[in-house]
Amino acid sequence: NMMKVAVVGGEGIGPEVTAQSQRVLNWFAVKRGVPMTLREAQYGIIPYLATGKVMPPDTVEAMEEADAILWGATGGPETKEVPAAARKAGSLLGLRSKYDLYANLRPIVAHPALSDSAPLKASVLTGVDFVIIRELTSGIYFGEPRGIETLADGQRRGFNTEQYTTDQIRRVVRAAFELARTRRNKVCSVDKANVLETSVVWREEVIALHAAEFSDVELTHMYVDNAAMQIVREPRQFDVMVTGNIFGDILSDCAAMASGSLGMLPSASLGPVDRFGRRKALYEPVHGSAPDIAGRGIANPLGSILSVAMMLRMTMNRPEDADLLEKAVASALSGGARTADIAEAGAKRLSTQEMGDAVLNA
Ligand code: NAI
Ligand code: MG
Repeated sequence: NMMKVAVVGGEGIGPEVTAQSQRVLNWFAVKRGVPMTLREAQYGIIPYLATGKVMPPDTVEAMEEADAILWGATGGPETKEVPAAARKAGSLLGLRSKYDLYANLRPIVAHPALSDSAPLKASVLTGVDFVIIRELTSGIYFGEPRGIETLADGQRRGFNTEQYTTDQIRRVVRAAFELARTRRNKVCSVDKANVLETSVVWREEVIALHAAEFSDVELTHMYVDNAAMQIVREPRQFDVMVTGNIFGDILSDCAAMASGSLGMLPSASLGPVDRFGRRKALYEPVHGSAPDIAGRGIANPLGSILSVAMMLRMTMNRPEDADLLEKAVASALSGGARTADIAEAGAKRLSTQEMGDAVLNA
């Protein structure tokens, strides 16, 4: 069963980190016989300058036929040269919408080897292993009405709409309960039900779904402001955390500090299961295009490489290979491999490519 993978590096450090995860994917194809075909495609400012489109037809086709998309990053100052309409015609937000990639999984693992350089204390980090599931296709990032208007008195007013329906809540929360059953069987649902109507509906739907189908899973609820504090104070309490689009966006960057760097975090964005049992999936590091370090070959590729492990596990159904890759990353780290973002003062800093080498060697 040949899996098709579209490899789209994108902009900024996207192509730099993706080059390393693509080497890793190739390794699994060649050395472990994982059946896959890779198709590279361009996205962003470069194809825009050549063709007038950030997402040219070849890229659309590559993603259309793909079982899994390996995505790099988008954004950065030079993309200001792309008019808003052209950018919108091929945006990542649009892609998430098109393929209905509603469940965004962001595992947070504290690597023991990094506990000395991480911003949080080793005593807080030991054993941290949880997953944030962020709803990705609704909420305030998509809600209508939205806009910027000028009021009668000359003031400007920006406005957005937070909204969630029963179905939108239930399908992502279902993903959380199902994942929890394969882990430590705990779900923490995060909302702001003391203030927001969307969160009142969110919490009631979570409770109803839990009672109807998942009463074997331990369920707790937390307000988002408390959740931010608890992630820093005692992250070990979490197994699976499920929340809406904007809360998940913010909490996962916060949780990144438990892994030592934003550059360490992988993610998977999953669409609905079709009648053949397949689901479209996009795998990408949590970070963006990092314009401050782009083009220097120093970005940490481990978030992208660990996204390949998620792809092996979830799209390719190769859990042993996923474990193998995660162990290789852990072993490279315990062997002292460090890119600049995770290096202690005075330690040797590997380039992006050398970190790729370290993982492949391991
Ligand atoms: P960012 O994630 O690009 O960078 C935040 C900070 O983390 C920077 O200091 C950066 O150097 C560092 N960092 C990020 N990834 C790293 C890596 N792999 N290795 C070492 N250091 C790393 O977020 P920022 O600066 O807020 O956004 C930059 C651009 O990226 C914006 O245009 C934004 O819209 C876009 N973006 C795109 C995303 C995507 O493609 N999925 C996600 C987040 C932001
Ligand atoms: Mg973010």
